[in-house]
Amino acid sequence: MTINTNGLILSQIAQTATEAAAIASAKLSGFGRKNDADQAAVDAMRRSFQTAPFSGKVVIGEGEIDEAPMLYIGEELGAGGIKTDIAVDPLEGTKLCASDAPNAMTVVALALEGGLLHAPDMYMDKLAIGPGYAPGLIDLDLSPTENVTRLAKAKDVPLSEIRACLLDRPRHAHIIEELRKAGVGIRLIPDGDVAGVFWTTEAFRSGIDIYFGSGGAPEGVLAAAAIRCAGGQMQARLMPETEQEAERARSMGRDVHAKLTLDDMVPGDVVFAASGVTHGSMFDAVHFEHHNAHVDTLVWDSFNKRKSRVRSIWPDA
Ligand code: FBP
Repeated sequence: MTINTNGLILSQIAQTATEAAAIASAKLSGFGRKNDADQAAVDAMRRSFQTAPFSGKVVIGEGEIDEAPMLYIGEELGAGGIKTDIAVDPLEGTKLCASDAPNAMTVVALALEGGLLHAPDMYMDKLAIGPGYAPGLIDLDLSPTENVTRLAKAKDVPLSEIRACLLDRPRHAHIIEELRKAGVGIRLIPDGDVAGVFWTTEAFRSGIDIYFGSGGAPEGVLAAAAIRCAGGQMQARLMPETEQEAERARSMGRDVHAKLTLDDMVPGDVVFAASGVTHGSMFDAVHFEHHNAHVDTLVWDSFNKRKSRVRSIWPDA
């Protein structure tokens, strides 16, 4: 067995960052203060990156430098080391955290420089399934019915045993209607489509086979990192809503009409880490006991093809 040390170092950095952010935001979970919880996560994650042994640059972050004072796109972090692209969602599901609802989590993806798509902050259409299927099984240009029919055939189950996940939004009404007609089960989530996509990677645990619909493009790249590590399939397309957004995407070198493959979004090896803030389909919530914080984290490292689940206890939290 050859060990890739970049994968090991980046795994440790990603895990520490998501755990720090999870502990900080969990302290504010259930208090109806989504912005404070988000800020706490951002501060903790940034502090953790500042002393980490790498030369990191944020490519997916809290926004442009004029919108976000911390973890802004282009911010350089770290104490020196491997040149690394950083993608973060310090608190994915800010509203979920504010109301102590399921599936709020903290997310980081780290790749060597150039290893993550620089996605503008706009909507992105997403389609994903987990590992174990023939390449090209799903396609964003096929109808939802065709995609679920292909999946059911590949899984050798009736359509009623396929479960799709979508954000519960009026803009998805036509997809929901079509999937209901096809006879598949649907899990509608109020927020948090990074979780929605990466649930497909462990369908036996999450119950989700396929993800459909639009959400944030930055969240799309983070979810693509999870799929890259788990070996599933994902396609996406940017959805600029204004000419200004389209121009912004073009200025970042993006073709706004292109169907993005996993290789476009995450061309090389990547580390994906996520920690649960509130309880959910994949995580336990952070819980505090005798000044210790117990945190549940997934760290997936495609450099070493290693998927770990870590339950850490941080003292004096
Ligand atoms: P926040 O954590 O920033 O609140 O995002 C939650 C989220 O549900 C994302 O998971 C998703 O990509 C996006 O918002 C969807 O946006 P919208 O609420 O506009 O449909």
